[in-house]
Amino acid sequence: MSSSKLLSWYDINAREMPWRIPPHESKSGKKPDPYKIWLSEIMLQQTTVATVKSYFIKFITLWPTIFDLAKANDNDVMAAWAGLGYYARARNLLKCSRIIVTDFEGVFPTSLKELQMLPGVGPYTSAAIAAIAFNLSETVMDGNVERVMARIYAIKKPLPSSKPELYEGAKKITPKQRPGDFAQAVMDLGSTVCLPRNPKCHICPWETNCLANQNDIAEKLPIKLKKPPKPMRYGIIYVVNREDGAWLLERRETKGLLGGMLGWPTSEWSEKATEDAPITTKWVTSTQSVHHIFTHFKLNLIVKIACSPTHVKPKSNKFNFQSDFVISDLPKLMQKVFAVALIEIKKNPALKKAGQ
Ligand code: ADE
Repeated sequence: MSSSKLLSWYDINAREMPWRIPPHESKSGKKPDPYKIWLSEIMLQQTTVATVKSYFIKFITLWPTIFDLAKANDNDVMAAWAGLGYYARARNLLKCSRIIVTDFEGVFPTSLKELQMLPGVGPYTSAAIAAIAFNLSETVMDGNVERVMARIYAIKKPLPSSKPELYEGAKKITPKQRPGDFAQAVMDLGSTVCLPRNPKCHICPWETNCLANQNDIAEKLPIKLKKPPKPMRYGIIYVVNREDGAWLLERRETKGLLGGMLGWPTSEWSEKATEDAPITTKWVTSTQSVHHIFTHFKLNLIVKIACSPTHVKPKSNKFNFQSDFVISDLPKLMQKVFAVALIEIKKNPALKKAGQ
């Protein structure tokens, strides 16, 4: 397996990305902005390149440097992240930017050890930053790279127990020359050629070297152990529209699911849906419930809606009526709840305010 074959392929086929230095510029010595590489890699941790692009551009426009991000208002950053999911990433993004500014004078460290001490930066992201931002010969493993390694070495041991072998395989072929381009090239190969289904082996630069291709088993690899099914949780979520048009929202606690994000008041999410209404009023239950899949469980929420008079005070001061809220500031689950509530409000005259 030669890294130069893959690098020659990358020279022609590299995907364009707003944070990326294209290969012809990187070969002539142009260096990427470590802030942009860090930001993009945090966003790419659990999200596709296609989704990340517009969020990345929004962040760079709002906060062009690490100094701007470190000074940003927390709620503005959470709102800009809304829809990307895995909100701990946004909270860690802020923490990390502030550490880089206060402890590192705004300059990212280059060693894996120091990088991994930063919030939100684990083995994958530290290697990606070291390789891509600083052109250091580090081995970057993600799902795409694992698939490519499983195939070129025809590793039949199933994931996740094959991870150490896949890593050793990748390490063996990580070059000293152009390691940053190499890391990005393997990821691009995995996303555009070495696809999970119908891999395009006939256009692969490693076609003749790949053991899985030689044995006609590329599509079968990597073998993955079946994951246990996700448990179900249930709850009730409450959408209150006040007569003056304001909506009842809460800023969720920083720790926990959707932490730090805005959301509708909700009961606990557990084995059984139990009432925990934020105000005493007459509720209308929507005919549609909301289903959402989290990493560790599936959630089903009953949506209850009410129109409240202006004098009503919520049961807790963690709830606030907001008249200037923007739907795109909410995480996806809360956007789905709002959509269901709006359908109900449209059909139900009792939920309509005077003049609506
Ligand atoms: N996925 C995660 N990081 C990536 C990168 N830098 N290039 C391509 N795909 C990626």
